[in-house]
Amino acid sequence: MASVPAVLIDGVSKVWNPEGVAPLLALDDLSFEVQRGEFVVLLGPSGCGKSTLLYMIAGLESTSSGTIECDALPVTGPSSERGMIFQEASLYPWLTLAENVTFGLGLRGMLAEKRREVAGKLLRKVGLGDMLDKRPDELSGGMRQRVAVARALAMQPMVLMMDEPFAALDVQTRAKMQDFLLEIWRDSGASVILVTHSIEEAIALADRIVVFTSRPGRVKCNIQIDLPRPRNPRDPAYRLLQDQLADLLADEVDRAFADQQSCKA
Ligand SMILES: Nc1ncnc2c1ncn2[C@@H]1O[C@H](COP(=O)(O)OP(=O)(O)OP(=O)(O)O)[C@@H](O)[C@H]1O
Ligand SMILES: [Mg+2]
Repeated sequence: MASVPAVLIDGVSKVWNPEGVAPLLALDDLSFEVQRGEFVVLLGPSGCGKSTLLYMIAGLESTSSGTIECDALPVTGPSSERGMIFQEASLYPWLTLAENVTFGLGLRGMLAEKRREVAGKLLRKVGLGDMLDKRPDELSGGMRQRVAVARALAMQPMVLMMDEPFAALDVQTRAKMQDFLLEIWRDSGASVILVTHSIEEAIALADRIVVFTSRPGRVKCNIQIDLPRPRNPRDPAYRLLQDQLADLLADEVDRAFADQQSCKA
């Protein structure tokens, strides 16, 4: 018997402002699955609905048609089973790192002493074990993103969603964060759904890359990546994949651009 997927997206469409003068079809009849423990990267041109999809999986927005299930249960609202990390780490500036990491556990009723112990463990895991009492404004952008990852992991989610989490970081920090994320992902057993614009980031991380068309977003193709990690950019198979993805994306970016021009005309 096939195992239940961590996330099932079945015939999902999203129309923004359906009752307004200009309804906008953002996603159209999208279907794919994310298996337990799988690392899926969503790649597609700007405006094709990637963030919209993450919001719907997170239960922060509803679908217009189709269903989203998590572990065979329909998504009807937010849940600690589905953690979300936004592009800019949204930490609470007035709390210490330890308090930020275990904020959700406090809401669940975990006692302060235990929370501090969990915070220490998770912050050590992300390389910030000696910074429990620092505040977010004392950290670099990369460090803040690591705290955001620790905070999401604290809830032990089944699915971790990340919306262009490293876009604001420099190339070197970004590469380090990718390595770090792969390590954390292996340990956690969670499924990851990560959005990026970077083909190289997608190849470095993914078990599978779902390429979206330009708006309305549909699944253009679904590519399994079987290359062993860490992936070597000099490997001919890596280069082939890079070219293939660049061609797929270029078509869609051209189309998105042409659409925008015709709207202006
Ligand atoms: N809250 C909203 N209300 C109305 N329209 C929205 C809303 N959020 C997004 N949209 C529209 O839906 C479409 C998809 O937006 P979305 O942010 O999901 O794209 P994206 O693929 O994440 O783009 P990017 O790569 O630039 O982040 C866009 O045309 C956007 O203008
Ligand atoms: Mg987006």
